[in-house]
Amino acid sequence: MRSRLVTWALALILALTAQGCFGVQTWNKEPTYTEVNPGESAVLSCKVYNKQGTCAWQKDNKPQGMFTGKYEWSGDRESGDCSIRIMDAGVVDNGAWECQITASSFTADDALSSKIAQLTVRVAPSPPLLEVDTVQVAERRNFTVKEDRPATIKCISRYGNPAATIKWFLDTDELPSESYSQRNTSESDQPKTWQAESILDHTYLKEDHGKSLRCVALHQAYPTKSKEVHVTVDVQYAPTVTLQGTPTGDVEEGIDSLALRCVVDANPAANIQWRRLGDVDVFSFQEMVEFNPVSRRHSATYTCEARNLVGASDPISARIDVKYAPRILTVGPAPTMTAGLYNHTLLDCQAEGNPPPHYTWIQTVSDTDEQIDRGHNATLLLESVSYEHQGQYVCVASNIIKGEEKQVVSDAVRLEVVGKPQVLRYTVDRNIEVEKGEDAVIQIVFCSDPLPSRTSWEWGSLRLDAGNGRGRYTAETLGKQNSRDDCYNARLRVQHTDLADSRDYILVVENDQGADRYAVGLLVNVSPTEPVSMSTVIGIVITCLILLVLITLIVLYAFKTEKCCFSQRGDFKPTDLESDKSDLESQKGGNDTSNTNGNTKIVPVNEKQQQLQQQQQQQPNEKR
Ligand SMILES: *[C@@H]1O[C@H](CO)[C@@H](O)[C@H](O)[C@H]1NC(C)=O
Ligand SMILES: *[C@@H]1O[C@H](CO)[C@@H](O)[C@H](O)[C@H]1NC(C)=O
Ligand SMILES: *[C@@H]1O[C@H](CO)[C@@H](O)[C@H](O)[C@H]1NC(C)=O
Ligand SMILES: *[C@@H]1O[C@H](CO)[C@@H](O)[C@H](O)[C@H]1NC(C)=O
Repeated sequence: MRSRLVTWALALILALTAQGCFGVQTWNKEPTYTEVNPGESAVLSCKVYNKQGTCAWQKDNKPQGMFTGKYEWSGDRESGDCSIRIMDAGVVDNGAWECQITASSFTADDALSSKIAQLTVRVAPSPPLLEVDTVQVAERRNFTVKEDRPATIKCISRYGNPAATIKWFLDTDELPSESYSQRNTSESDQPKTWQAESILDHTYLKEDHGKSLRCVALHQAYPTKSKEVHVTVDVQYAPTVTLQGTPTGDVEEGIDSLALRCVVDANPAANIQWRRLGDVDVFSFQEMVEFNPVSRRHSATYTCEARNLVGASDPISARIDVKYAPRILTVGPAPTMTAGLYNHTLLDCQAEGNPPPHYTWIQTVSDTDEQIDRGHNATLLLESVSYEHQGQYVCVASNIIKGEEKQVVSDAVRLEVVGKPQVLRYTVDRNIEVEKGEDAVIQIVFCSDPLPSRTSWEWGSLRLDAGNGRGRYTAETLGKQNSRDDCYNARLRVQHTDLADSRDYILVVENDQGADRYAVGLLVNVSPTEPVSMSTVIGIVITCLILLVLITLIVLYAFKTEKCCFSQRGDFKPTDLESDKSDLESQKGGNDTSNTNGNTKIVPVNEKQQQLQQQQQQQPNEKR
């Protein structure tokens, strides 16, 4: 118990000593840098342990007295708080403040001097200003820069204390601090205030055009803590052009219209130049080039280009190809052409049109609607002209515009064919078959210009002129063909045809230019139902019967006379034998020698033949 009491007593004594009765003054809190807005109050701290001495303040190394309402003790000095309250702060209060405490006794060496604390009475800087190349740029004005090139702008905040802190914004985006730097300098005309200067080096993009470039000065003395100034970024850039109104389909002359617009994106405004490919002069300085309506002379490649002080655009082109329907320029060589038979001839047609026209040569055969497609070139070469080529020729030129065919037909060119007669071989069958007994008609079409001087049919050694008839044979008068100019039908009619009529019949046509011949073979058939040799069979049967009768008579005569029959037969024989002979001859002639039969019935062609025929006629008479 006793020892515990002693411990308590000792502790109390130590505590008292520490309290100051015997203690040393030491710092509890020294004043520090302090800022204050003008008119407001600030407290500079100064607290000491074991305070025995007296407190005092110095400002700028000079004693600072206390004045009620301006400089007052802020705390209880007896308890060691020597803090000073500075009220209604003003420029005069700016300075280096120091708190001092005298020593606790004349023997003690514990007087205290605080660190010097700066008191700054803030001064709100004047509103920030922007400068470009030392020229001030007014609020909201344009800050003109060139695209992709760095530009410099300066923001100045003057007469602030302390210096304002400057930041930069593009619209709401803060620019990186690397892009600007701040310098603070004291103002010469107003001591204890500062000029803050921030220089921004930034490269602007086209997209930044029209944005707000803001310089924000941050300062605690501003009621809103910041003031700003801004300008509009005017980014100048080289033009880019786009084309509007380029036709997507065909453009037809006289019908469609065209408006080409050169849309320019540029700052500052650019000058437009339209050029036509191949022209030296500028076609237009307007934004829009109009053709209303378009014509073929507007066909060209148009190029638009724009230029401003920053640069020039890439040129942009539109090709205009004005389409127009075909038109015949010439057709010929002459309205009427004459070509020699088997010669060659050339017809020519020239048409304009866009796209270039296609040609078709059409021949209209005279007096009919029959039309023949003769060729698809501008020139029509007829290599070996025949009468078939005679007629009207037109050239049809056509092209296709907007999916629609446009065509034009030329004036007709008349082609006349002259020359020797020509049988249109393809119109005639080479061979004709008829049943025996029927009529046969051999028809041949031929053409001739000039008119044929003679037309005749020939077979064997015979000749029959058109318009004549002999016996079963008729050479009809020439019929004019309606379908072809200068063409005629020649017809040979054979009545009741006989087997002997089977042969070639030759048409011979002549005019003053020459002649043409053509043979048609006639084949006379024996119809299978009628026995081929009915007459022959009858003949044979009759002959057999006569022979039988003869033999019977001879036998009977032999029996009657009972003599040698041969001695007396000479009287009896001649008439019978003669008749036999003639029968046989007539049959033979019918089968083989149609010539002789024919000759007898037709008037001979010339004297030689006449003589021949007369001889032949006389011979049987002589025999008889
Ligand atoms: C700023 O530049 C734009 C073009 O970019 C122009 O239209 C405007 O008039 C300019 N403003 C001023 C105030 O100069
Ligand atoms: C300028 O003053 C501002 C604000 O007082 C400060 O933040 C900045 O560091 C100073 N700059 C220089 C270079 O002294
Ligand atoms: C045939 O053509 C040639 C040359 O092309 C010409 O000299 C001649 O006169 C023509 N003949 C006729 C009959 O037209
Ligand atoms: C048409 O003309 C071209 C050249 O001009 C030629 O090559 C072609 O053979 C001609 N066609 C006919 C059918 O003549």
